[in-house]
Amino acid sequence: MKVVRLTLRFLIPLAIVLGLIAYGVTPLADNLLTQWFVKDLELRSKLIVNALDNSIFETIDARMQTKTRIDAFFRRIMQDERLFALGFCDTEQQLRFRTEQFPDTIACEPAAEGAESRTQVVEIPNGSLHVAAFPLQGSGRVLGELVLVHDMSFVTSRSTRTQGYIMYFIAIIGAIVSVITVIIAQLSLRGWISGMRGLLGENRQHPLSPSGPPELQPFARDLRRLIRDVETDRRLRDDSQTVWTARALKELLTKELGGEEVMVISNREPYIHVRRDGKVVAQVPASGLVTALDPIMRACQGTWIAHGSGSADRETVDAQDRVQAPPDHPRYTLRRVWLSEEEERGYYFGFANEGIWPLCHIAHVRPNFRSEDWRQYIRVNEKFARAAVEEAKTEDPVILVQDYHFALLPRMLRRLLPKATIITFWHIPWPNPEEFGICPWTEEIVSGLLGSNIIGFHTRFHCNNFLETAERFLECRGDREHSTISFRGEQTAVYRYPVSVDYPVRLIRQTKSVEHARLQVREKLGIPPDRRLGLGVDRLDYTKGIVEKLRAVERLLERHPEWIGRFTFLQIAAPTRDRIDEYRKFRADVVAEAERINGRFGSDGYQPVILRVEHHEPADILQHYRAADLCFVASLHDGMNLVCKEFVAARNDERGVLILSQFTGASRELLEALLVNPYHVDQCAESLHSALTMPEEEQRDRMRNMRATIHDFNIFRWAGRMLLDAARIRQRRRFVPKNTFPTPLPVSEPSAPPAA
Ligand code: F6P
Repeated sequence: MKVVRLTLRFLIPLAIVLGLIAYGVTPLADNLLTQWFVKDLELRSKLIVNALDNSIFETIDARMQTKTRIDAFFRRIMQDERLFALGFCDTEQQLRFRTEQFPDTIACEPAAEGAESRTQVVEIPNGSLHVAAFPLQGSGRVLGELVLVHDMSFVTSRSTRTQGYIMYFIAIIGAIVSVITVIIAQLSLRGWISGMRGLLGENRQHPLSPSGPPELQPFARDLRRLIRDVETDRRLRDDSQTVWTARALKELLTKELGGEEVMVISNREPYIHVRRDGKVVAQVPASGLVTALDPIMRACQGTWIAHGSGSADRETVDAQDRVQAPPDHPRYTLRRVWLSEEEERGYYFGFANEGIWPLCHIAHVRPNFRSEDWRQYIRVNEKFARAAVEEAKTEDPVILVQDYHFALLPRMLRRLLPKATIITFWHIPWPNPEEFGICPWTEEIVSGLLGSNIIGFHTRFHCNNFLETAERFLECRGDREHSTISFRGEQTAVYRYPVSVDYPVRLIRQTKSVEHARLQVREKLGIPPDRRLGLGVDRLDYTKGIVEKLRAVERLLERHPEWIGRFTFLQIAAPTRDRIDEYRKFRADVVAEAERINGRFGSDGYQPVILRVEHHEPADILQHYRAADLCFVASLHDGMNLVCKEFVAARNDERGVLILSQFTGASRELLEALLVNPYHVDQCAESLHSALTMPEEEQRDRMRNMRATIHDFNIFRWAGRMLLDAARIRQRRRFVPKNTFPTPLPVSEPSAPPAA
């Protein structure tokens, strides 16, 4: 089909060109033919006259003397010589004898002096006649002129036939030339492309020894540069010129990915069904990952595969373990994977959260690695890989693998769905090789992750740590310039995609004013309307710096006693991973710390710290963000931290102050926050004081800038960049079938939010 199309594309213009040539050639051929036949008739006329010799002179002379008719004599000559007409002009230019058909339009004319003959072509209604006049002389006298007339209609008919032949000839030659040209072009193009592929593909593995055809070598570098330039240009246009909304993301999926299948795989599910007061209700878990991915899946309408961990999850799925999400306005499919008690203990509580979590966070909690946990981790990764294959509707879905629970999954998926585009996002920090090397299965983990086409981290620092770890533990080749790793003949890109939040916040449309939120929240907390309120929102996790925050509040009250009775710090702490000793211990520490500080500075009707260890729904959290005078994020180490971004996004009144740990990924973007070292209690206390005394104007200026950053780099852009990169990989694969072509540069690198 392609060849037919190509041939037609070539043949049609060729036919036009040949037509034009034929159009120009035909009159030329016509002209030449006529001239040729005229010459021929002249010659023929001359031969006739010469053949008649003296006999005609004598006959005409005799008849002129006797004045008798000459018709029979002329008729005989005409028959013998196949003439159209014959006439004789005397020396007085009188037409003395003529045959019947001799046209009246031919007149006798004086003979040119010394000329052997006189010829002309005379047009008549149905054609043309060739007229040749020869002087008749003999015995030293001139009798007159013999006029021989030939019919030239045969010239026209021969010329028409000849034109036909010329047209056929040109058409046949044209067809032959075009077919030969198309065949040669196809062969050379194929050779050229395969040469280029070889050259470019080979070059990826051995940059210094390209083995493509030598004649293509000079073009390869230019071609690669050109492709990169075009991509960079397009990427910058795509990325920064788009207003990133759910709709823009959806359009991108249709335009760049042709509406292709998108799957998310994460441990935590976006909606957990639980039984509360005898009723089944859907809960949204406290998870940055869910905050980030739910709006994206609403836009993409794909399938999200996650662990079904809710007490009523099994009651709400269909026979294929699927349920539509979100429960109130279904937009995508949630496929639940069930884990046995043993699997959950080993994979989730054990390897993921007692091993990798403390390993990757610098929070001074010792990681625990147990072989049995590792076995369960492998098992559960396999289970999710099988679920992905079951859910895949196409052979090449785009699969977004989430987080440290699934380090082995990308390679498993690569084996089961070789054509899939796999993007793995690691939501937590990646430490340096020495630290990561503490894990007894470092090689397996890194190799598993390298089954992805792209691995994403929040910061460049974590990308570099990963590159170094891969180079240290595997036989692979890292390319710092393009941020890629080549391992076992495949290439994985390591890119920075700083995650963000839904902005503008969907839920804000349903909320009342900030003033309303201030009053309502204070009323619920039982504190007076004018009490200043500080807020912390975290999972009850030892990495979040909750104890450090409480100590900073205590220090504030020590250093600035004027705040006693006038300031309350509310810490919302969602219970998490409570089967792990370290978390249970931490919970007890936090509760004890809050009680101690309240015991020290509290009084009747006043508690400096309010601790709420319970789950809050997103709408409720939003109310608290809007009610607070400041939000304090004190993570000891955090990949990104979305609480700070949620707080900023919630404050469309441009008020409120953010105090942010310098050890969060977000601190590189939200430069207008009061950045603190959570280990430095005095600095934190002073920042609390600065926040509480900050003029409204300054609050507005800082908040406005931070909101602008989140406006420009919201969650849709985070996903959009990854999907654009996925689209680019897929486009390239069409050009170079194997995963051998250099992965395109990420959309995230040149236009990422400002990094401090
Ligand atoms: O920070 C990493 C992360 O996976 C987040 O994406 C998420 O907020 C949190 O951990 C959730 O933890 P869990 O699912 O164990 O409650």
